[in-house]
Amino acid sequence: MAFSVIGFSVIQLMGEYLFTQRTRDDQRIADNLAEAFSGYLVAFDAQSIYDAALEAARAQQGRVLVLDALCVVQVDTASEMNGQRFITAEIDGVLKGSDGDYGFYDAGSAGNAGNYWLRAALNGFSGVNAMTGLYASPIKSGGSLVGVVVYISQVQEIYESLRDIQIKILSWMAIVALAVLLVNALVLRTITRPIGELNEGISRMSKGDLSARVRVRGNNEFAGLARAFNSMSERLEQLDKSRSQFVSNASHELKTPLSTMKILTETMVYQDPLDPAMAKEFLTDINKEIDRLNRIVSDLLTLVNIDSGMKLNLTDLDIGALLQEQVKRLSPLARENGVELECQAKESLEVRGDALKLQQVVYNIIDNAIKYTPRGGEVRCALSRAGKRAVIRVTDTGVGIPEEDLPHIFDRFYRVDKARSRETGGTGLGLSIVKQFVLLHGGTIDARSAPGKGSTFIIELPLAEKKKEG
Ligand SMILES: Nc1ncnc2c1ncn2[C@@H]1O[C@H](COP(=O)(O)OP(=O)(O)OP(=O)(O)O)[C@@H](O)[C@H]1O
Ligand SMILES: [Mg+2]
Repeated sequence: MAFSVIGFSVIQLMGEYLFTQRTRDDQRIADNLAEAFSGYLVAFDAQSIYDAALEAARAQQGRVLVLDALCVVQVDTASEMNGQRFITAEIDGVLKGSDGDYGFYDAGSAGNAGNYWLRAALNGFSGVNAMTGLYASPIKSGGSLVGVVVYISQVQEIYESLRDIQIKILSWMAIVALAVLLVNALVLRTITRPIGELNEGISRMSKGDLSARVRVRGNNEFAGLARAFNSMSERLEQLDKSRSQFVSNASHELKTPLSTMKILTETMVYQDPLDPAMAKEFLTDINKEIDRLNRIVSDLLTLVNIDSGMKLNLTDLDIGALLQEQVKRLSPLARENGVELECQAKESLEVRGDALKLQQVVYNIIDNAIKYTPRGGEVRCALSRAGKRAVIRVTDTGVGIPEEDLPHIFDRFYRVDKARSRETGGTGLGLSIVKQFVLLHGGTIDARSAPGKGSTFIIELPLAEKKKEG
């Protein structure tokens, strides 16, 4: 819209400019002739008037008429209207005292109002259907009007060049309009629509619908945005699912010891009289269940802390000493279970880490190895160095882990043999905590196993950077 307004204004301005320019030039020709003729008139030099008129007409490719004060044509460079009375609005204006006047006529329709000579004057010169300009200028002598110069010139080419400009501008406008439409369609396809869909997806998600996904179109930045949105909502959905799974698993794990305690307590309550020996036995069992509850709750709290961005309390520590310490702590359990526990950690390696967390890591792995190794078996720990890493290996000759379970043992609440783990008091949280702790230290943990023969857990931790002396 604005564009077409500008286009039309440009056409109008161009037209006005061309016409003023032209009329100014033509009027000057008429004025100059009038001035020259005034001199010739004073000298009664009719021949010079005729010659000058002819010369001007030829030079400007126009027609010159010289009229006396009574509007009778004295000179006509086209030798057609001599002796005829000729009057137009412009000539009349000059007679009434104007310094000069001009008008434009279409030679085809001029004179339809009855002015026969007007048509003759224009047609005789420029042919049919051409735009023609008529300039009248007073010839003065001693201050009084003695005649009128009429100069007729064709302005058709101005009209034509104006029409050319008009056509050009209009065609450019059409092209630009088309381009605007195309760009609009493109913008709608590549920007507006994807943003709209993304908007809808976000508002669905903010209302709690985590299954919201948007369509990925093409391969531009918006497609990237859509992909990022989809992977974000997928991740949120997964997180939401695993969170509810976690809560349900946790509740289940807490329920088991509570039910046991409830049964034991009720049995004692309804026993009359209460057998002190039995009461003592039941209370011992209840005490064990309380320990178990305690362990589960502290494991759950540890996981919650990890999820909410746990901070490590870092120091440089001797990992060999730490390993030996935990082996010593677990020796009584190994003895009780009839498992031989041995440790080879002669090398002293320094690791930058959180002592309490790494103790828990090593303790859990050795604890598992003892728990899942039958009487008469062996558990061997070893520490070595591989490049810039400390490698801890815990190998047992226990029950092993089936291949299909191996990828899941680090998942929360995952147990290979639920009944057996329950017997050994396991909740399936130990390894998931171990893995998180190792990852927090920038390390890795891996498990290899041959079912029936035993398993090996390998933990790699980055060594502490050696401080340069001085
Ligand atoms: N050394 C091992 N040999 C055989 N199976 C193992 C070994 N270590 C772990 N597992 C299997 O992996 C499962 C997960 O271990 P994890 O330590 O997470 O749980 P848990 O020992 O059952 O319980 P928790 O450690 O929470 O008390 C165990 O239930 C067990 O089935
Ligand atoms: Mg365990």
